[in-house]
Amino acid sequence: MKICSVVGARPQFVKAFPVAEALGAHERVLVHTGQHYDRKLSDVFFEELPIPEPDVNLGVGSGTHAEQTAAMIEELDTVVTRESPDVMLVYGDTNSTLAGALVAAKRDVQLAHVEAGLRSDNRAMPEEINRVLTDHCSDLLFAPSERAVETLAGEGITDGVHEVGDVTCDALLAVRERARERSRVLDRLGQEDGEYILATVHRAANTENEDRLAAIVAGLADAPLPVVLPAHPRTTAALKAAEDIGAIPDSLQLVDPVGYLDFVRLLDGAERVATDSGGVQKEAFYLDTPCVTMREETEWVETVEAGWNVLVGADADAISRNLDRRFAVSTKPQPYGDGDAAERIVRTLERTVGTAPVEDAVRG
Ligand code: UD1
Ligand code: UDP
Repeated sequence: MKICSVVGARPQFVKAFPVAEALGAHERVLVHTGQHYDRKLSDVFFEELPIPEPDVNLGVGSGTHAEQTAAMIEELDTVVTRESPDVMLVYGDTNSTLAGALVAAKRDVQLAHVEAGLRSDNRAMPEEINRVLTDHCSDLLFAPSERAVETLAGEGITDGVHEVGDVTCDALLAVRERARERSRVLDRLGQEDGEYILATVHRAANTENEDRLAAIVAGLADAPLPVVLPAHPRTTAALKAAEDIGAIPDSLQLVDPVGYLDFVRLLDGAERVATDSGGVQKEAFYLDTPCVTMREETEWVETVEAGWNVLVGADADAISRNLDRRFAVSTKPQPYGDGDAAERIVRTLERTVGTAPVEDAVRG
């Protein structure tokens, strides 16, 4: 079994490292599309996580959705011709995911999607298009939760679906202790456990809309504790370009993106997190950090139902009010497995892919 894994954006480096470990001696080709290329969005993850250096970097970089996805498709197709993998393994919902999916679906390569079955039901979100299309052309669908399996069934997808849990949970469990012991990020930023709020913003709907971005800044400026915001480059650029936002208040500490160990340490020590990230909502849940999500909907509904996450949109008052409220949580369900998703994925690949023809393998 030869596996071609496609990654390109920050959350995919995190998701891919437990799977890379579980793949052990299996023959693999790791392709980095180059969607993220800044050191702090890319290299830092390969330096500190047990993920091999990419075998190929397509160097696609930034552009419109069409430019970026088209360039990836063309380059990935060449990789498939050269490497003849049995399986293309794609993660999540970025343009790199969709490009890998389309290439595999049109070649004699089985497509396996990690994080299948998630939906925001918001088709204006580019990631929603990427996930729906990827799921509908996948042969193997690795769903993180029972609900994701049900969502797929609701769309008529039942063959090749495997509930395995969430690989982000595996990743977090693997580094949590190391982050507590080794990260010096709190000292560096002059913060103390429980005395600050962590925030991240990068979703296009928030950064590309000046009113929403201004409301988020106002809500965070009014938070009950100082806020640390490691800013994605598109957020930094949007804040600079925004005419009506004005000076960032001192209580909002804008810093560069941090590596995964430092981020996990910051999230672990934070009193609350305010975010529009998908991955951060789950990581907050795993680390018992209450989360205020600055979006109108989430794919990770279980975290909201369990009382650990609240959706507030880009409303300044709702952001500051919810960052100040008590989160009355008694019990904690485990809807996303218990940290062995990567092992389950690899065992399933071993069972279903191999020497059998594609159709038989998928049915198996
Ligand atoms: C992408 C994903 C999003 C994911 C996020 C993770 C898509 C459609 N979006 O969003 O789902 O949550 O990654 O962080 O795939 N830029 C840099 N340096 C970089 C990369 C990007 O400065 O290394 C800037 C460029 O100006 C670029 C902009 O950020 O145009 C957006 O980058 P892009 O990769 O298109 O989308 P993300 O917002 O990062
Ligand atoms: N992350 C990080 N450093 C940061 C911000 C986030 O290492 O400064 C990690 C975070 O722990 C999570 C992933 O990046 O694993 C989430 O990525 P992002 O929010 O960019 O994307 P999303 O999950 O929304 O697709």
